[in-house]
Amino acid sequence: MTINMPFYYKKQLENKTGECYHKQQKYTKRRVKMFIDLHMHESTYSKDSFLKLEDMVAIGRKRGLDAICITDHDDMGLKKAAEEYAKEVGFPIFVGIEYFSLQGDIVAFGIEEYPKKRVSAQAFIDLVKSQGGICFAAHPFRNNNRGLEENLKIVKGLDGVEVLNGSTMPEANQKAADYAKELGLVAVGASDCHIPEKIGFFATYFPKKVTTMEEFIKVFKSGGCRPAYYQDGGYMIWDMKTKIHKPYKIA
Ligand SMILES: [Fe+2]
Repeated sequence: MTINMPFYYKKQLENKTGECYHKQQKYTKRRVKMFIDLHMHESTYSKDSFLKLEDMVAIGRKRGLDAICITDHDDMGLKKAAEEYAKEVGFPIFVGIEYFSLQGDIVAFGIEEYPKKRVSAQAFIDLVKSQGGICFAAHPFRNNNRGLEENLKIVKGLDGVEVLNGSTMPEANQKAADYAKELGLVAVGASDCHIPEKIGFFATYFPKKVTTMEEFIKVFKSGGCRPAYYQDGGYMIWDMKTKIHKPYKIA
């Protein structure tokens, strides 16, 4: 997979020897930071996905991810199997959900219960909060009528905004980034993958190692997470300042 994205910030990420961020990490003895793909679909419960859990872990590992997330459409049926598989292979898998609220898609983690019918974004966010979970708006300005759009400014309680979504045009991702900054919400990146080539296309930098859902939520709330993109065999953090000039290309 080659990715052509013209909005990189190599300069700020270079150290004195000119190594890029992900290369520095490779030589760090105690690697405590993580890159996690926060929004991924597995085919058992996401019928529009072509991905099997085993392949998601294998490809994610190969690409340099430190953990993956399963966020199936309106379903958390894979939770138990995914947790068992995570233990078996020694690779963290966090199971959340991509819930299609009446106003648009919201990704949530740290919950056990979710509505079986469509409810408002606010009702879903309130339900997540009541269970101690976290949630972020998925692709809020993607052109598929499934984003929260201006509701970002109306709902209360969102923790974050997906500012790099692998199935969203750069202009819409930039708009999401602008809103995240304005609203002071955590900005995250995720592939929203349904096919192998997309796994890890975007990811989120976690400043601390997380292996349990409790740790995941604690670090997410800490505010140190950042959106990241895959390039030349590693991950780079996006600072959300430089404009994106043309669409992402996967060849
Ligand atoms: Fe999705």
